[in-house]
Amino acid sequence: MNYIWFGTLLTCTLVLTGCNDSTPNDKADGKALFAHYCESCHGQTGNGKFLQGIPANAHTALTRQEVINLVLYGRDDKPAMPNFRKQLSPRQAQKVADYLLFTLKAQ
Ligand code: HEC
Repeated sequence: MNYIWFGTLLTCTLVLTGCNDSTPNDKADGKALFAHYCESCHGQTGNGKFLQGIPANAHTALTRQEVINLVLYGRDDKPAMPNFRKQLSPRQAQKVADYLLFTLKAQ
């Protein structure tokens, strides 16, 4: 009987925590990708953290293609921005850029 309870508890814990921590898959939309990869620094609304020197990326002057390239490969003139070449596919980088430039920027 105890084993059944333990098993149920373990499964619930894994399901609950797993959902939040899991890496977004190919079907993840720009919002989910942004939340996973960008929000910790730039904030949920893309307003950045002024005191930590993180710019409001939702108001960037960069073009869509420049944002995609920045996210994937970084830029020499923005050395403090990490690149996500290993985590994001080019398609995912496009989705994140579109979310940033068309959804967040409009807010
Ligand atoms: C570890 C913190 C961190 C994470 C995570 C992060 N960024 Fe940044 N980002 C920065 C910093 C710091 C800069 C400023 C870079 C510089 O000027 O050297 C920046 C700059 C930018 C800029 C340029 C803003 C401008 O016009 O100057 C864009 C766009 C941007 N980030 C988008 C993103 C996106 C999209 C993601 C998620 C895929 C992301 N960032 C994840 C820290 C972060």
